[in-house]
Amino acid sequence: MPSPALHRHVAALLLAAAIGCAPPRPAGLTVPYTSNVAIVAHRGASGWAPEHTIAAYDLALTFRADFIEQDLQRTKDSVLVILHDETLDRTLRGPGCQGRVNEHTLAELKACDAGTWFNERSPEKGRRAFANERVLTLDELFERYRDTVRYYIETKNPEDAPGMERQLLETLDRHLLRGAAHEGRVLLQSFSAPSLKLMRGMDRSLQLVQLMEKLPAGANVGALLDSVARYAQAVGPNRLDVDAAFIRMAHARCLIVHPYTVNSEEEMRRLARDGIDGMFTDYADKLRKILQDLGPTRGALAPGCARR
Ligand code: G3P
Ligand code: CA
Repeated sequence: MPSPALHRHVAALLLAAAIGCAPPRPAGLTVPYTSNVAIVAHRGASGWAPEHTIAAYDLALTFRADFIEQDLQRTKDSVLVILHDETLDRTLRGPGCQGRVNEHTLAELKACDAGTWFNERSPEKGRRAFANERVLTLDELFERYRDTVRYYIETKNPEDAPGMERQLLETLDRHLLRGAAHEGRVLLQSFSAPSLKLMRGMDRSLQLVQLMEKLPAGANVGALLDSVARYAQAVGPNRLDVDAAFIRMAHARCLIVHPYTVNSEEEMRRLARDGIDGMFTDYADKLRKILQDLGPTRGALAPGCARR
């Protein structure tokens, strides 16, 4: 007669199969971070300089960020450019510098000033030189930093730019960065699961991060993470959804956790103590200092998680 414990075990397996839960698979990002909490410079050092500009990226690297982050949009003439918004209105200034990115050519975007908006918004941090900043293409970014830095690239609104994923991989290839994308020195992120799955279908060795919108109350976090663990190595949740329990649940599924966007020192400390693997921040300098003060933290996948 089977024991009650065996009954429970079999019942749990049957339930997992019925709801489509795969057992945890080996995962993990393989980057040798400078601490065990990865510092992801969100849009560059965007707390101190206009986002996604050379000024912001250079500054992030002087702060020894582990990654510099990019949001990708596509122009009317099909060039991948690094801009967060679908429109020019918030971050570009100049004649004609309004409206949708995909209704402007690269030449039109290049005529816009990408720094003055920051001086207007934060005069205490503003610099006259920021007015000379220009929209960057992904090619220009790679030409500047080559394989000397780690990139964290988001396909933004990919449903409006069909083919963006293939174009991104071709750009990596042009700059000999495909290997870096296999090794976790280039991470590819998106809120769009179809976009990530498309890239995984093109190259199973890519290291992918599923961004998550703020979860609704009562969300079934376990089921969500189960589903992500089938095609990605990491999750990028809203910082408000992340606590020690969330991190444990993700790690149990071999998923790394990189919440966005953590700018308060108190929250940086809390997350580091809770065992976070990294975080997006506008202030890489603050996070670097905090990690130095804290010393080694616990951020770690479950034993047995290895790269898949
Ligand atoms: O990519 C992580 C974080 O940047 C997501 O939010 O809107 O800043 O791209 P957003
Ligand atoms: Ca982003």
